[in-house]
Amino acid sequence: MARLGSRNKSSLWLSDGCCFLTGALSALLLVWGLCSFIIPFPNTDPKLNSVAAKLKSLNLPRNQITTSSAQDLLYDSPETTFYDDPEMSYTMDKPVTNWDEKRRQWLLHHPSFAAGASDRILLVTGSQPKRCHNPIGDHLLLRFFKNKVDYCRIHDIDIIYNNALLHPKMNSYWAKYPVVKAAMIAHPEVEWIWWVDSDAVITDMEFKLPLNRYNEFNLIIHGWEDLVKKKHSWTGLNAGVFLMRNCQWSLDFMDVWAAMGPSSPDYKKWGEKLMATFKDKVIPDSDDQTALAYLIAMGEDKWTEKIYLEKDYYFEGYWVELAKMYENVSVRYDEVERRVGGLRRRHAEKVSERYGEMREEHVKYFGQWRRPFITHFTGCQPCNGHHNPAYAADDCWNGMDRALNFADNQVLRTYGYVRRSLNDKAVTPIPYDYPAA
Ligand SMILES: *[C@@H]1O[C@H](CO)[C@@H](O)[C@H](O)[C@H]1NC(C)=O
Repeated sequence: MARLGSRNKSSLWLSDGCCFLTGALSALLLVWGLCSFIIPFPNTDPKLNSVAAKLKSLNLPRNQITTSSAQDLLYDSPETTFYDDPEMSYTMDKPVTNWDEKRRQWLLHHPSFAAGASDRILLVTGSQPKRCHNPIGDHLLLRFFKNKVDYCRIHDIDIIYNNALLHPKMNSYWAKYPVVKAAMIAHPEVEWIWWVDSDAVITDMEFKLPLNRYNEFNLIIHGWEDLVKKKHSWTGLNAGVFLMRNCQWSLDFMDVWAAMGPSSPDYKKWGEKLMATFKDKVIPDSDDQTALAYLIAMGEDKWTEKIYLEKDYYFEGYWVELAKMYENVSVRYDEVERRVGGLRRRHAEKVSERYGEMREEHVKYFGQWRRPFITHFTGCQPCNGHHNPAYAADDCWNGMDRALNFADNQVLRTYGYVRRSLNDKAVTPIPYDYPAA
C-alpha cells in the first residue's frame, strides 16, 4: 500500500512545532532582555503580557508549554503567504494546489500557532440561511448549537457556525463542502476539520476523539466496511459527522466528491448510477452520503486507503437506538460516582478533562451502557419539521429534548445543578458530595 506518510508528516509538524517554540522563546527572551533595559513597559501592555506569559511557561514541564494561551493573536507575519496570492480561491470551482506546503509555510511564519498544530481540531457546523418552518425549529437549533459550544469550551476546541449558502447550487446535504474548504483555508493552524451536522448531539461531554488512531488517515467517518463495500448499502456509513485532515488530499477528495453533486453537469447521471449501485437508496438524486459510499466501494486506492471507517464507538449513532438508553446509562454512571470519591470532587470546568480521564478507567468496560459519544437525529429534520414516516414527529422532538438534557446535565453538574428528569426543564441545586449524599 502506497502510504503518503501522514504519520511522518504529523510527527514532523510536532517536532517542527517544538523547534519553532524554542526558537521563538529564545528570541523573545533576547528582545525582552534588551527592552527591559531601554523602555519600562507599562504592565497593561498586552504584548508584554504575552511575553511574560511565554517566559512563565518556560518553567513548566515541556508538555504543558503547548497551550493555546501561547498563541500570539496580535502578530501576522510580514512575509508573503498564500493569502497574498490573488490566484488563491476559497470557492469550490477553483482547485487549490500545493496546499500542504502553503500551510507549512504559514505555520513557519507563525510559530506560536505551529506548536500543537498536529492535533488541533476545528468543529464546523451550521444550518440554512432562512428561519425554520417548524415552530420549535429555531429553538432546537439553538440548543443543538449550545451543546457543541459546551463541548468545545470544555475541550479547548474552536467552533464555527455557518448559515450562509456559499455555493448557490450546492444546497441541502452538499452545502457543507464549500464551508469545509473555506474553513481549511481560513484556519491553517488546525490539522482537523470536524464537521458535525446541526441535528447531532454530543452526548458524552468527556469523550475525546482518539486522534492517534487516525495518524495514517485523512477522512474519518462512522461506518462498516462490509455494508459499504460488499452489500452496497447507502446507510453503511453516515456523512453527517466526519473528521477531515486539513491537507491537499482532502481538497482533492472534495473536488472528486463534489463532481458527483448538483454543481456538476453529471449530477443527473450520478443519481442514476448511485440508484443502480446502492439498491436500498431511496432518494433518486445524487446525495453526498451515497456518493461517498460509492467512492469507498469503487474508488481508486489513493482515496480508499486514506479513509477510516470508525465503528468502535459512536462517532455518531442512530438516535432511535440510543435515546432510550440514557436513563439506564445515567444509573450506571451514578453508581460509579457513589463508589469513587475522586469523581465526586467539585472542580473548575477548565480541568474537566482530568475527571474524564479518571472516569474512563471505570466506564471503559460498560459496553452498551457507556454514554454514546454522538446521538444523531437522522431522519428527523428539526428546522423544516419533516421526518421519516417510520416515526412520529413528537418522537423526534422529544428524543432531541432528552438527548440535549442528558448532555446538559453533564455540563450543569460543574455549575452545581442537575435535572432530576430528562423530560423536565426544571433544574435543582445539587448537594455537596452528590450523588453519594
Ligand atoms: C433499563 O433498566 C430497567 C431496569 O433494569 C429495564 O427494565 C429496562 O428495560 C432498561 N431499559 C432499556 C432501554 O434497556
